[in-house]
Amino acid sequence: MSRVLVIHGPNLNLLGLREPEIYGESTLEQINQRLGELAGKLGLELRVVQSNHEGEMVEAIQQAHGWAEAIIINPAAYTHYSIAIRDALAAVRIPTLEVHLSNVAAREDFRQQSVIAPVSLGQISGFGANSYLLALHAVRYLLDERRR
Ligand code: DQA
Repeated sequence: MSRVLVIHGPNLNLLGLREPEIYGESTLEQINQRLGELAGKLGLELRVVQSNHEGEMVEAIQQAHGWAEAIIINPAAYTHYSIAIRDALAAVRIPTLEVHLSNVAAREDFRQQSVIAPVSLGQISGFGANSYLLALHAVRYLLDERRR
């Protein structure tokens, strides 16, 4: 079983309540449940972390070294300025997909920069909760491709 770390950043614990017109009606618990079900079908083992703290996210990334074959991360607001999270991803060199519920490219200027994108394989943004599920499919595809 391939192992995947999923990290949800700050305020994503408030999904459902938080600006549903932007982030959708699904709660984080519902998203995690859908991720768990899909992971089972795709033969992936998940570790899921949510944190409102930058240092905890850095530690989760560090601890993934030697365990995870891929990381799916929605760094939330830290996307736009956390050099610490960026550097942690660069250090562990685990293939990473950056995920956003909203289409950040269509939003405010301060969301136009991602410091995470340059250390990620790519970004999936704008599909609501499905962004995470698409990322999981992409991970399965990438891991299969690497083994070929
Ligand atoms: C977000 C987009 C970020 O700009 C924002 O700060 C978030 C959520 C998204 O999933 O759309 O907290 O990462």
